[in-house]
Amino acid sequence: MEEEIKEKLKKYGQEHVLAFYNELTEGQKRKLEEQVKKIDFSLLDELFRNKEEKMKEETIEPINYEIRSKLENKEKKLYTQLGKQAIRSGKVAVCQMAGGQGTRLGHNGPKGTYMVPLAIPKSIFQIFAEKLQEINKEYSVWIPWYIMTSDENNEETIDFFEKNKYFNYPKEKVSFFRQGKLAMLDTQGRVILNKKYEIKEAADGNGGIFEALYRNNILEKMKEEDIQWLGIGNVDNILLNLVDPLWIGMAESRKVLLSTKTVTKVNPTEKVGVVCKIGGKPGVIEYTEISEQMANLCDENGQLVYGQSYFGCALYNINLLEKIGAKKLPYHPAFKKCDYIAENGELVTAETANAYKFESFIFDSFKFTDEVLFLNVKREEEFAPIKNKIGADSPETAKKLYEAFKKKLENLN
Ligand code: UD1
Repeated sequence: MEEEIKEKLKKYGQEHVLAFYNELTEGQKRKLEEQVKKIDFSLLDELFRNKEEKMKEETIEPINYEIRSKLENKEKKLYTQLGKQAIRSGKVAVCQMAGGQGTRLGHNGPKGTYMVPLAIPKSIFQIFAEKLQEINKEYSVWIPWYIMTSDENNEETIDFFEKNKYFNYPKEKVSFFRQGKLAMLDTQGRVILNKKYEIKEAADGNGGIFEALYRNNILEKMKEEDIQWLGIGNVDNILLNLVDPLWIGMAESRKVLLSTKTVTKVNPTEKVGVVCKIGGKPGVIEYTEISEQMANLCDENGQLVYGQSYFGCALYNINLLEKIGAKKLPYHPAFKKCDYIAENGELVTAETANAYKFESFIFDSFKFTDEVLFLNVKREEEFAPIKNKIGADSPETAKKLYEAFKKKLENLN
């Protein structure tokens, strides 16, 4: 083994990584060494030391937003026209963030492969493909469809598309790209072995998207194709509406580089991030980080002051994506369960949280532009998330919302 590897581990108090080294095959030894070489232990060290530091005491204030249903007809018409032009001329692409693990849902596989129990069951990816096909019918354009995966689910995702023949979407219009990863740490700040020759690394959060778009040359490709707008959405929302002419046209017309849809929070404890100003800049406070007092704060009309939720539906201009480039966003710590190899060499299944995972959040990018257009839309038309096995935001609730909306559309036509 190269001396450099031992030195690196020693410097950061991570020598336990080599505890089983002598038992490993030559191939396993090389694998472990390569992994150690790539890991940024200095970053992990810093993240561990600062994990208790609460969000910096920055001022949080409410932020303005517009309401789609209150726009004047002539505005609506103008925006829609502009947006349609942009779509027709190939200036719009979409990206589903699909690198998460879907632990809460208990689905064994990439979330997009989850079969939604509709009258004719369909996977989440198929539902989205059908939406893009409808767009093709209307605008005669195949929208480039990017899918962000992670090391944990990349192959399985691609296999699923292959097996399903890309749901009859042109294969050359679908691109997969992998987000980055970060090692998980135990309560002593030590990396965790999940095999005797492997350090446990997990996806680095959906904020990893910017670095990943850059590193995988997606930005380059977008520029070559003269794409102006990238709609980025959560894979688990089966009513995700990213190719929305009014929205795109409105962003163009207002000359903003970023627009995000919002829905009104159903109650103060709903598990959604809320839009606001953080230190004078547009941002989101995540549901895991908002104080109870702030979540419950009402104005004189009894409305929640922080009542507009970001729901994973954003529109980025290419110029902003370029500006963000490979920049890393801050990491937020979470304490999670992580199986590990114990000192005696046996694999232990974690029954309770035992490890820190660090994730960056996509909306921490909002601060890179002074103005974000927040557009409130109707929840029943755009937000049907599948997060939990049962109860709120479950396949059952999403199915109801989805079918009701389809029915409403049929009745309109
Ligand atoms: C997310 C939002 C929350 C919002 C809610 C709406 C973030 C950080 N939080 O919360 O503000 O109100 O959705 O439903 O976005 N993902 C990756 N890679 C990762 C982690 C996640 O691609 O490393 C993807 C997931 O597959 C999913 C999306 O990002 O499509 C959101 O992630 P998830 O963990 O489901 O976020 P929530 O906690 O539900």
